[in-house]
Amino acid sequence: MKSIIIYHSHSGVTRRVAEKIGEELSGDPIEVTPEKEYSSLMVVPKGCFRAMKGLADKVRPEKIDVTGYDMVIIASPVWAGKPTPVINGAIESLTGCQGKKSYGILTCKSAQSGNEALVPFIARMKEKGLVISNTAVLDRNTSTDNAAIDTIVADIKSAWNNL
Ligand SMILES: Cc1cc2nc3c(=O)[nH]c(=O)nc-3n(C[C@H](O)[C@H](O)[C@H](O)COP(=O)(O)O)c2cc1C
Repeated sequence: MKSIIIYHSHSGVTRRVAEKIGEELSGDPIEVTPEKEYSSLMVVPKGCFRAMKGLADKVRPEKIDVTGYDMVIIASPVWAGKPTPVINGAIESLTGCQGKKSYGILTCKSAQSGNEALVPFIARMKEKGLVISNTAVLDRNTSTDNAAIDTIVADIKSAWNNL
């Protein structure tokens, strides 16, 4: 299974999760950043506003072609109960994803908020033609827990084997 792990991380939590999953699956991690970085002063008012509206930021890299991959893993923090505008931009930038197996991961403070954010996250992935194998929400406790990340890795492998 050749996997790509596309992620946004503002403060490092999702990056660590994505890098660990990337290592364990021998996948390719791709960090997506906003063309205009969010300052610590503006991340709450501007980031939350844009997340709540479901807006998509311009991101780097501008395009991500997933044609050569079997599994597309997408990971994002939760802002204001939604996926971030940065990951929204990353999903828009995907090419070659029609019918691809995929796995969505959200990191957040509260699992309830993460579960709410899954709804628009999944919808956006499906709009691109991705086929969702499964999803995972990591809260303030589990996002730093290696055992929880190992469980996700096992789930991705089993989703791959079962599809
Ligand atoms: C602007 C902003 C808004 C956030 N909104 C929420 C939220 O609505 N619900 C929640 O559970 N966590 C929220 N968080 C916490 C982050 O989702 C959580 O700490 C995440 O794991 C951070 O990931 P990162 O370090 O990869 O950026 C917010 C964080 C920021 C910076």
